[in-house]
Amino acid sequence: MSVWAVVAAAGRGERLEADQPKAFAQLGGRPLLAESLERLEASAWIDSIVVVAPPGWEEPVILLAEELGCGKVVASVGGGGSRAASVRIGVTEVAEDAAVILVHDAARPLVSDLVVERLIAALNEGWDGAVPGLAPSDTVKRVRADAVVETLPRDELRAVQTPQAFVAAIFRDAVAGGREATDCSALVEAQGGRVTVVEGDPRLLKVTTADDLALVESWLGGSEPL
Ligand code: CTP
Ligand code: MG
Repeated sequence: MSVWAVVAAAGRGERLEADQPKAFAQLGGRPLLAESLERLEASAWIDSIVVVAPPGWEEPVILLAEELGCGKVVASVGGGGSRAASVRIGVTEVAEDAAVILVHDAARPLVSDLVVERLIAALNEGWDGAVPGLAPSDTVKRVRADAVVETLPRDELRAVQTPQAFVAAIFRDAVAGGREATDCSALVEAQGGRVTVVEGDPRLLKVTTADDLALVESWLGGSEPL
């Protein structure tokens, strides 16, 4: 069973307010993207990696992969105007015989092999897709124009992360529709796909602001193994 990773790294990182795209913002003295690439390269579950680069940064991505010795990186393609568009472009580079497509955000540098293993295990159990999720510790309310409309039952809620893994054929169909969504699972759900939630990881934090970057950097510098 071959597993292809598509790394969505094409965003501009506007909220980070860095001089270069977020994938090339510095984390521990190297580009943010380096962390995900190295971790996916080291994962025994992953066979090949496609990087969706910020437009114009395709070549620097290849150079970075070479520098890191990431031989699983087989393609670097320029992304689109939205995350969904970027993922759609990345999927076109995945080999026909891929069994599983795992989509990951470069913005979440601390991807762990344990999470990848849980996702693959869920697909082996017969799910169409699997996503890592965390139960929120806050109560979540639906709000319109500052007025609370509804208090959601907290035990039914999960905040979901990436990587997200899908049966390749099902995922190809789901992205082909050209729909917009904030995560890949939503595209599969919209097609009637059965997606399960596995235990996520608080360290899979998405880097959005400079504060997030500093927090992840502090975790990297810590003495505890990640
Ligand atoms: N992404 C992408 N293509 C886009 C937009 C986003 O590949 N056109 C990727 C980002 O590179 C990131 C992930 O999707 O890894 C999640 O997006 P987000 O955290 O919003 O990153 P940016 O869009 O880069 O940040 P911002 O919204 O602050 O500009
Ligand atoms: Mg964005």
